[in-house]
Amino acid sequence: MIKPPNLVPVIAIDGPTASGKGTIAQRVALALGWHVLDSGALYRLAAWLVLDRNADANDIDQVALLARRMDVKFEGTQTFMSGVDVTELIRQEHVGNLASRLAPHAALREALLDRQRAFRVLPGLVADGRDMGTVVFPDAPLKIFLTADVHARTARRCHQLRERGEFPDEKAVFLDLQMRDERDMQRTVAPLKPAVDAHALDSSTLTVDQTVDHVLALWRALPANLIGKN
Ligand code: C5P
Repeated sequence: MIKPPNLVPVIAIDGPTASGKGTIAQRVALALGWHVLDSGALYRLAAWLVLDRNADANDIDQVALLARRMDVKFEGTQTFMSGVDVTELIRQEHVGNLASRLAPHAALREALLDRQRAFRVLPGLVADGRDMGTVVFPDAPLKIFLTADVHARTARRCHQLRERGEFPDEKAVFLDLQMRDERDMQRTVAPLKPAVDAHALDSSTLTVDQTVDHVLALWRALPANLIGKN
């Protein structure tokens, strides 16, 4: 049977670590009045649960089962796991690092797939991650591949960490970003890469406002016959 097209529009924003995807996705969603999916948060939540339960991170079937069953709620900017506010906890560097080491495993990615697709509800969804345009929402009418050079991304990540009261070692942050990108790009399952129909957008020298305007302009320039378009 042929599946009918999904009528809920999606803007997929993929790109490397600290390229600003999260901020841009939030701002674009706000401008359009749409929902937002921070898919990286789901990988971080799975990693956090593994650490919290003292589970074996090498037992991928167990990790996938935990991820499939986790009780997660997103409310505004807050994230809850089984009713506990874990917003700050999942942003810790060691949690992001474990998320990046678990993310190459197909069983975990499969366990999170339906959960991600369930975010696709009217009036529309802005989804940010690594494989939004290639795997999770391959039919998204607009796909952005957001990059920024590694020095700009290092500066942004250090700024974020300082705002959280931390004292980042710039060199360590730089090496960590490079390692995560390498892992995301080299994995065999859902590697980080632009979808063939993605628009490449380099935000190294753009402000947040300029980047958001660019994405919105691309959305508005799409042919009007695209279903669900505002
Ligand atoms: O984007 P964020 O840094 O929060 O994501 C945490 C980790 O989850 C990333 O380092 C990446 O390896 C993984 N991830 C992924 N696919 C996604 C989103 C995140 O593999 N769609």
